[in-house]
Amino acid sequence: MTKTMMAVSGALIFSASQAVMAGQEEVSYAGKLWSAMEKNNLVGANAIVSVPYTGVHPHGAILDTLDATTTVEGESGVVLIKRNYGGEGVSKQAVANSPAKWLKAVTVMYKREGYDPETKDWFWVKYSPGGEVLKNPKGMPLAGKVGKGANAGCIACHKAAPGGDLVFNNDRYK
Ligand code: HEC
Repeated sequence: MTKTMMAVSGALIFSASQAVMAGQEEVSYAGKLWSAMEKNNLVGANAIVSVPYTGVHPHGAILDTLDATTTVEGESGVVLIKRNYGGEGVSKQAVANSPAKWLKAVTVMYKREGYDPETKDWFWVKYSPGGEVLKNPKGMPLAGKVGKGANAGCIACHKAAPGGDLVFNNDRYK
């Protein structure tokens, strides 16, 4: 697809409410991103485990977060992976003992060169523990520029992150 065609199809998926809808391209790209992360042991059965900590809404009751790099379609980029744990009786110790048992969702920000400079080229996804792209209550897949131009969703909230990089935890990824 040419750059112009991509711009045109990008404009077409712009809804009347100005919220950016995820299209097939985003969902398919999210699948490739999951495979890349799985290959690097960042998600899936052999995922690296880090120390669980008490989370904040809307991420899970207990979280862990990794920064890494991964390669999708020959392009390398920074990937921030936040695993969201929850459920009746969840605790940091319980998650440390059996992470897979409590995992509810995997939220990811991937720096995709040239994707959308206005939102710092981050590609946003919310996956099920098995790597399916999750949907919001309206049935819209949570992949791509989620929450851009809307009053809820990943970008809408991450706009409040210090340093203007949409990342809360640090200012390393201008
Ligand atoms: C209502 C606010 C809010 C929404 C909506 C939200 N987040 Fe976050 N997110 C946060 C906060 C606050 C942190 C930092 C807290 C922490 O690291 O424990 C964070 C941290 C993260 C991080 C770690 C990098 C960082 O910014 O520190 C990732 C990755 C992430 N969120 C992905 C997502 C994705 C993907 C979505 C949408 C599916 C999303 N978030 C929706 C508030 C939000």
